[in-house]
Amino acid sequence: MAKDICVLAYSGGLDTSVAIQWLMEHKNVDVVALAIDVGQERQDLELVRAKALTIGAVESVVKDVREEFVEEFLAKALKANALYENKYPLVSAMSRPIIVKHLVQEAHRVGARYIAHGCTGKGNDQVRFEVGIAALDPDIEVIAPVREWDLKTREQEMEYATARGIPVPTTKANPYSIDDNLWGRAIECGILEDPWVEPPADIYTMTNDAHFAACDVPEYVELSFEQGLPIALNGETKSFHDIITELNTFAGRHGFGRIDMIENRLVGLKSREIYEVPGALTLISAHKALEDLCLERAVLHYKLGIEQTWADLVYNGLWFSPLKEALDGFVETTQKLVTGDVRLRFFKGSCVVVGRRSPYSLYDYDLATYDATDTFDHTAAKGFVQLWGLPTKVWARQRRKVGKDGEV
Ligand code: ARG
Repeated sequence: MAKDICVLAYSGGLDTSVAIQWLMEHKNVDVVALAIDVGQERQDLELVRAKALTIGAVESVVKDVREEFVEEFLAKALKANALYENKYPLVSAMSRPIIVKHLVQEAHRVGARYIAHGCTGKGNDQVRFEVGIAALDPDIEVIAPVREWDLKTREQEMEYATARGIPVPTTKANPYSIDDNLWGRAIECGILEDPWVEPPADIYTMTNDAHFAACDVPEYVELSFEQGLPIALNGETKSFHDIITELNTFAGRHGFGRIDMIENRLVGLKSREIYEVPGALTLISAHKALEDLCLERAVLHYKLGIEQTWADLVYNGLWFSPLKEALDGFVETTQKLVTGDVRLRFFKGSCVVVGRRSPYSLYDYDLATYDATDTFDHTAAKGFVQLWGLPTKVWARQRRKVGKDGEV
């Protein structure tokens, strides 16, 4: 009888390489390896593909999904100004849903019963994989080898691998756990687990140290948006994809885009996370600045709450969920007139918005100005303030009556 098939989310690293062998040994399945290109730092994906076959995968597939990642996933994150806990632009949380989508597609193509991933039991990524898979095909069964096997340390994994002829890394182990894609880079573990310790300089690959290495003069960038998405950089029309990669380089060179934070994981623990997100943070600040100009006050204020919920849902693995889809609908509606230009100034680790303009700007100079062209009706303000303050006055009188003047 033919064996069941398991599609494995394969990165080429030690964990998922050992997982191929472990799945064959312990689950008696044929393994189909799938490596997804979401714009992670260049590794030769052809080598990754071949490596899976060497270890024993019956099939090994590499998919370049960068264009789709930008257009269908990052576009939504930018429109939602998505920042988990007001800081983290969801780097890993953004790539998991698109990986899940392709894992499920692949599982259907090869008739797989299982999907496997290499996540540990401590992180958010396991949740994103498993809940995402359940949303797209509730009948697929998930296997999480790293959560199941008893290879506690890297040394044990290396031993297991060597004993079975699995190629192991020859260079000294990188003490950090790194996950990256077009939207940025996440760095965890090692010495970073002590929240008091300053991150060593050598963990950074996308950003210069603001103080020592960045440019000595300020540089300006002009970003043009249409309906919430960037369409040009310094007046030159470019794809969203190219704008992200160019800003990663440019802002990174200026030392902008580092985050050092304590983050609340869904599984209940706090973790210390370092991120490099030069392009993502530049784009989100520019996009916000344009919204400040173009969105009507009530919409802008309401959207802030929606943005936070959106980021929470995506962080917590609910990309494929009815609430997230409904919120996308809201966000999309708000973007119709978010069109215009934003000017940003980069200098020694900072990125500051210094100008914004839009054909749909709601900023009215004649209303805002204090000079002679002022059209604001100052006399109307008197009655407005009286009525706005009326409940406060009524409350204060009552407190006075009962002898509790000024006390809440
Ligand atoms: N804490 C971040 C998140 O949950 C980053 C996770 C990085 N993943 C990794 N396997 N290193 O989104």
